[in-house]
Amino acid sequence: MIYPRIIAHRGGGALAPENTLAGLRLAARLGCGGVEFDVMLATDGVPLLIHDETLERTTTGRGRVAALDSATLIGLDAGIRHHPAFAGEPVPTLDEALRLCAALGLWANVEIKPAAGQEAETGRVVARHAAAASGGLLLSSFSSIALGAAAGEVARLPRALLVEAIPADWRRRMAETGVCALHAAANALEADALLALRDAGVPLACYTVNRRDEAERLFAMGVSAVFTDRPDLWAAAEM
Ligand code: G3P
Ligand code: MG
Repeated sequence: MIYPRIIAHRGGGALAPENTLAGLRLAARLGCGGVEFDVMLATDGVPLLIHDETLERTTTGRGRVAALDSATLIGLDAGIRHHPAFAGEPVPTLDEALRLCAALGLWANVEIKPAAGQEAETGRVVARHAAAASGGLLLSSFSSIALGAAAGEVARLPRALLVEAIPADWRRRMAETGVCALHAAANALEADALLALRDAGVPLACYTVNRRDEAERLFAMGVSAVFTDRPDLWAAAEM
């Protein structure tokens, strides 16, 4: 698995509203090779970009994402809470986001972010839609159930297991979920685990790294990539 070193977190990082097409366009303009975004299902099964199970923090909607249909969710404003300059920015579908990534040459880390109880269904649906995309991508999830369901649906797509701290039994968890890489919290990283992964040749990407010096320290320790809200800290040629 070859990672872009700098991956814009939640679309385009902190300079644009999270999980929007505006964010993806910004990431491309900054010169990012890759982006990460979160995907959840509407009540009619359409996969959409959103992080929280509820709408209030990032959109003009109210209540639970999984309780509303895709037409309603797409009609919400996902930009104005970030800044009025982004007013009218919609909640994108996964298909729109993957088409835009392919058009912009952005590698995509699609994080499967199931609402509680929808782990398997979300994994299956995301895998089906990702399989139809033309650009490079990787699926990831904190949910082993979602990863297993995605693998069962489309085995050939690369997948990574998301964790906070690297678990002592990472070999077993990776084998169980059939993943090729780990994504872990940078602030929970322990040197022993990192060395063990490096010896085993397991790619590791770390979230969320918003300082250049911290990213450089992680790269020097063998980390393959960082998720960042601040892709603007790097020049295009460095990413
Ligand atoms: O995929 C890395 C990172 O996005 C995981 O945390 O909560 O920002 O989705 P979160
Ligand atoms: Mg995420």
